[in-house]
Amino acid sequence: MDANIAKLKEWIAGSDNIVFFGGAGVSTESGIPDFRSVDGLYNQQWAYPPETILSHTFFTRCPEEYYRFHREKLVIEGVKPNRAHLRLAELEREGKLRAVVTQNIDGLHQAAGSKNVLELHGSILRAYCSRCGRPYPAERMNHGAGVPKCECGGVIRPDIVLYEEPLDDDIVSRAVSAIRQADVLIVGGTSLNVYPAAGLINYYQGHRLALVNLSATPYDRQADLVIHEKIGEVFGQV
Ligand code: OAD
Repeated sequence: MDANIAKLKEWIAGSDNIVFFGGAGVSTESGIPDFRSVDGLYNQQWAYPPETILSHTFFTRCPEEYYRFHREKLVIEGVKPNRAHLRLAELEREGKLRAVVTQNIDGLHQAAGSKNVLELHGSILRAYCSRCGRPYPAERMNHGAGVPKCECGGVIRPDIVLYEEPLDDDIVSRAVSAIRQADVLIVGGTSLNVYPAAGLINYYQGHRLALVNLSATPYDRQADLVIHEKIGEVFGQV
């Protein structure tokens, strides 16, 4: 086993206060493309850049085009948790992992069995009316045609944080508190380019910050351990 993976395994074995902070790279081995890799969502051609489509202004002005993108690109059939999701859920059951903080909207940590999942950017598995707030099952939003509407006439929207929208204060404060108190912080599958999410790492006060990411990130120099490998393969060994 690689020496850095062996070190991560040792840290995990010796801690009962691990927090995981992750992003789209955690789900690529489940078949969901990330955003910024060469074959990621942001490098595919659409009439508008995905950052524009995934914005509050665009959703409000062009819900038809938003929903075309949403159903074609955000909703992926038949995806299953991979070894990273499964091992994290197992570590929680063993009483070693306190929280999963994720930027992902795919619900795969919960599908793997994780309970304390702090979804910074929400979830496409929940929907609500943008006018009256009434909650709706996500089924029609994700699989129907056209723009889904509420009985009140409002547009039903996914419970995700679009660009220009603030993160949920309660989720952020729970994430900050978990990260601040963590003994081992494992950050993985995220380019750490999107704020305020990426800045949460700065709340960590310990000396066992592990970064597991295929490509280099702006936080590599700050980490105590850096592993540039596939996260599912790494979690399959720890
Ligand atoms: P990115 O696409 O920016 O970064 C994913 C990172 O995961 C990249 O650095 C890849 O190298 C790495 N990666 C891919 N597959 C991997 C694997 N199998 N193992 C390890 N690393 C792997 O995605 P995020 O950092 O999650 O926000 O992006 C953050 C936010 O940007 C998203 O939540 C989304 C997006 O705009 C909103 O929609 C609000």
